[in-house]
Parts: sequence; structure tokens; C-alpha cells
Amino acid sequence: MGIKLDILEPEAWQAALAALDWQIEMGVTDWVQDSPVSRYDLPDRLERPLAPDAPIRAAPQTDAPRADAPKTDAVEAARQAAQSALTLDDLRAALTSFDLCELKKGARSTVFADGNPAARVLILGEAPGREEDQEGLPFVGRAGQLLDRMFEAIGLSRQSADPASALYITNVMPWRPPQNREPEPDEIAMMRPFLERHIALIDPDVIVTMGNTPCMALLNQKGILRLRGNWTHALTKPVLPMTHPAYLLRNPAAKREAWADLLSLKARLT
Ligand code: URA
Repeated sequence: MGIKLDILEPEAWQAALAALDWQIEMGVTDWVQDSPVSRYDLPDRLERPLAPDAPIRAAPQTDAPRADAPKTDAVEAARQAAQSALTLDDLRAALTSFDLCELKKGARSTVFADGNPAARVLILGEAPGREEDQEGLPFVGRAGQLLDRMFEAIGLSRQSADPASALYITNVMPWRPPQNREPEPDEIAMMRPFLERHIALIDPDVIVTMGNTPCMALLNQKGILRLRGNWTHALTKPVLPMTHPAYLLRNPAAKREAWADLLSLKARLT
């Protein structure tokens, strides 16, 4: 938070410190706003105080695009960047250097994937949360731990070296949305070329989508409670929509249906 404690009066200093302590005690770990803030831009925008005898200069030229300048077509730029990726390393590099998605500016990490690239099963989640953003890996928070336990129950693991029992895990969005909000349709559309390339490079036997966002991205459909458990196809691959493990944490009664979906996946793989 941007309080400058050293310039406050002692009582105000104590009050500000107590307010911060209280927030930490209440579990606040990050201070986020509704829309992402680019930390990289801030130093340039801050006005430094002028020395008393400093000459007055003309206002600096803004580098904002002119109203009549053509807008970069972000989806087309994503398509070109994704198409030129011939390997997973190329794709990770292309995503890491792709700067047209606002979400990237508020994120610490570009969360690419985890698991075995030779796995028969690709799990597609929504977007990194706080822990994933910190660690740079998908599904490592509470929902991720549940996801690991669910798939281990049918003999599949991201740690497995054997493609038959391995998982490869990635997300539609590689950057954490502010306050873990759902990704917007234009953000999903921008990432779709990368997702298509990612799936083509991994070439899994089946894709399991967790929650609504990957269903929007792959199937152009929402309504996970209706879609779950019904096998369908996207990008020439069989797709099994499942409820997101974060939903299962909030609604334990839904674990029964999730177990049925896991058994359906297991049957499909044998
Ligand atoms: N939820 C997701 O959909 N993906 C993650 O990586 C973490 C939580």
C-alpha cells in the first residue's frame, strides 16, 4: 500500500501502522484494484519535484497512440506469435514476450504449464490465482491440491514420468486476473491462438476442462453444471468438462458427480 510512513505525524504514523497490522491480521496479503496497474509504467508517470532554479521545460511528448493511428489487432498478433512457435519452449517464450494483454501488467508470473508434456491427459484450467502467480505454476493452491488428489484417485499424476499415468496441466489465461475475477471474452479470445498451439504441440489423447472459462475458450459454451460429465470434441480432441475444484471446495456435495466424471475419464483411457 502506498502510505509513506516516514512523513506522517507520530499519532498518524501509529494509526496507519495499526491499520496495516489489522489488515494483515484479517488475512489481507495483496492490495489489488478492479483493473490491473502496470508497475512498469509508474516511475515514468511520477512527477519529480523541480529544483528551485530548474528551467521550465515544455511538457514531454506523450507516447499514447494518436486517435487516427491503426490499433494493434491483438488477436492477430497472438495468432502470428503462436504460429511461429515450433516447440513448447518457443511457445513459452512467445507468451512471455506478448505484451498486448492488460492482465500481464498486474501479474508477477507468466504461468505456462506443469506436468509431463507426453501425458495422454491435458487438464485445462481457468487462470492462475495468488499462489500460482507467486510460484509460476498452475494449480498449486488449495484448489490445485484437491485437483491432484482427485486425479491421483484414478492413478493420474503430474509427477508421473509414464505418459499413461501422467497429467499435463495448463490454463486458458497465463496471467492472474485482478481479484481473481473471471477472464473477459476479449481476453479469452486473445489467448485462444496460444491455447490452440499449446494443444497441438502437446497432442493429448483427451482434454479435461475445469470450470466455465475453458468451456468458453474451447467450446464457446458456458453452463458447467449442465456441460459437466458430457463428452464432446474440440480441436479434434475428445473433451470432458468437469466442475472446477474451487467449486468443489465450496460445494462438497458436488464431489459425488465429480467422482463419476473421473470414473468416466478412467474408462475412456483404458
Ligand atoms: N484455478 C485455475 O483454474 N487454475 C489455476 O492454475 C489455479 C486455480
